[in-house]
Amino acid sequence: MTARDDDLPEIEDIGSNPAPDRPIGELIEARLTRRAALRGIAGAGAAAALSEALVSEATAQPLSVPREGGPSTLTFPELRQGLSQTHRVADGYEVQMVIRWGDPVLDGAPAYDPRNLTAEGQARQFGYNCDYLDYFPLPAGSRSSEHGLLCVNHEYTNTNLMFAGIGEGRAARGRTTREQAAVEIAAHGMSVVEVRKENGTWRSVPGGRLNRRITMETPMRISGPAAGHARLRTNADPTGTRVLGTLNNCAGGNTPWGTVITAEENFNSYFGGAAAETGPEAANYRRYGIQRDATYAWGRHFDRFNLDREPNEPNRFGWIVEFDPYDPESVPVKRTALGRFKHEGATHAISHDGRVVFYSGDDERFDYLYKFVTARPWNPNDRAANRDLLDEGTLYVAKFEERGVMRWLPLVFGEGPLTQANGFASQADVLIEARRAADLLGATPMDRPEDVETNPVNGRVYVMLTNNSRRTAQQVGPANPRANNVHGHIVEVIPPGAGTNRVDHTATEARWEVFLLAGKPGIDAGARYHRATSDQGWLSCPDNVAFDTKGRIWISTDGAPDNAGIADGIWAADTAGHGRALTRLFFQAPTGAEVCGPRFTPDDRTLFLAIQHPGEDAGSTFERPSTRWPDFKEGEPPRPSVVAIVKRDGGEIGG
Ligand code: FEO
Ligand code: CA
Ligand code: CA
Ligand code: CA
Repeated sequence: MTARDDDLPEIEDIGSNPAPDRPIGELIEARLTRRAALRGIAGAGAAAALSEALVSEATAQPLSVPREGGPSTLTFPELRQGLSQTHRVADGYEVQMVIRWGDPVLDGAPAYDPRNLTAEGQARQFGYNCDYLDYFPLPAGSRSSEHGLLCVNHEYTNTNLMFAGIGEGRAARGRTTREQAAVEIAAHGMSVVEVRKENGTWRSVPGGRLNRRITMETPMRISGPAAGHARLRTNADPTGTRVLGTLNNCAGGNTPWGTVITAEENFNSYFGGAAAETGPEAANYRRYGIQRDATYAWGRHFDRFNLDREPNEPNRFGWIVEFDPYDPESVPVKRTALGRFKHEGATHAISHDGRVVFYSGDDERFDYLYKFVTARPWNPNDRAANRDLLDEGTLYVAKFEERGVMRWLPLVFGEGPLTQANGFASQADVLIEARRAADLLGATPMDRPEDVETNPVNGRVYVMLTNNSRRTAQQVGPANPRANNVHGHIVEVIPPGAGTNRVDHTATEARWEVFLLAGKPGIDAGARYHRATSDQGWLSCPDNVAFDTKGRIWISTDGAPDNAGIADGIWAADTAGHGRALTRLFFQAPTGAEVCGPRFTPDDRTLFLAIQHPGEDAGSTFERPSTRWPDFKEGEPPRPSVVAIVKRDGGEIGG
């Protein structure tokens, strides 16, 4: 319970990039997470007492700015920071429950019964730990903001909160029976769920015609330059072109032609075996954090997760996956041209010439920021013509330089160091080992790049750099300017033409600047926001991001450190004008949870949020969770859920 890395929030790794010098023998430093704030507190009652204490302490402090007015265009009254067992939202807004883990998605789904989970039932119910969420209007091609499909990732499972009697934290993951592992496998993947807003209230439509569950057992295709490569072949798939399922899907995105992009992130945690250290792929596995002892016990029950049986299986994960949400029979496709790494997500921007660019962060300490540029423009008049657009193009990695200049370096076999001499025999090798290729190119090691998204109004690209407590003073650089960066920061990439209607996202050079440096102003070294940001308006660990149609930024956070005394939530700010970077708190998550999504409907009148891993606090168990959000039913664990936020007067979110 007290082991340092027993309570990893996501299945993070300590960083595997060999490039940044680290002192030999460096101790694994204390992970400063909010979970540690509750360390030693087992049970809802104790956590509640702490929460109330923190909330009332916060309430006693005067605000440093008026609750309304000032230079910000946002009209909601700023929420006070604190920790609590349930969520809170700014006055004037309402939080509506849309769908929870275990709720029915497909016809025939059993009723949620946390003491009687089955893999078969879970495969028809909403999965666990919702992260990316997207809204696709119905009918297809419309701009309906009251009827659509929610597409939601199920990133990972909190074994300790899913199964009665299995114990605490990470150790619980090693105790699953075959049946429990099968439930976890079915709880991963994605859900597609029809949703409707009726009389101002959102609800899901169980058994909707287009509803779908994608799990770790859904047949998928592998396409692009690495498809069929010997390193992707397994006993079950000697062709290297077919794979079952998708794993650890964190964030995602979409395409202009209306398909879903879902990103495979910490896939390493599921595979283990001696081959991690001794097999032919050992160096590759080391760079991706695959270890002899997997975090999950799946490899004990199912051969494909056992490296000694299937040494190539991990090469089939870490990709970007595309599928059509409007066709429940469509076969998802792993698009290898976009490279293999721990993709946080991938979001698109349409460039000046119609080519489509996908920005993607590799979420690990000292890993990189990438973009993929399609070889051809997309065709707005023929959806089918775009079907395989993601199979051809160029993958680039970012190198940030002084004076606000950056370069995008191509990962192309045969160019620069990406040759036989360095162990690359083809573009497939470059893509399978994209991290090593980027190392050789001299890419800039970043402070954990999470979501990367383009502001539709100013054309700038916002990079969430969530944190990096391991960066030393000798390792700081212009784009990662702080040592021991526990709070993270946000960088704006400014492509040529940004601010006009001809933004060139394909260019190999761009400018950049820092949008904000997170942490508490006056307390945390280097924290930097708008000077009027209040003592309630600062944030920590930016993760996901969305823009409303006015170009304002909505930031979700994951992992505020324990001494910060704040929960994760949603902060919003203008990106231009007098209120630029004047962040204010809009929504606070229940204890243990991070906030994901976020996603607006086209009319800006609904903001969907994924509330992931509520109750993920040290000491939290099925029997004694730190919260029972959202239903607070005695004897039941918390449930990751998607909520919809609407303004009580029906207006646009943020005013
Ligand atoms: Fe799954 Fe990068 O957060
Ligand atoms: Ca997550
Ligand atoms: Ca994330
Ligand atoms: Ca995160």
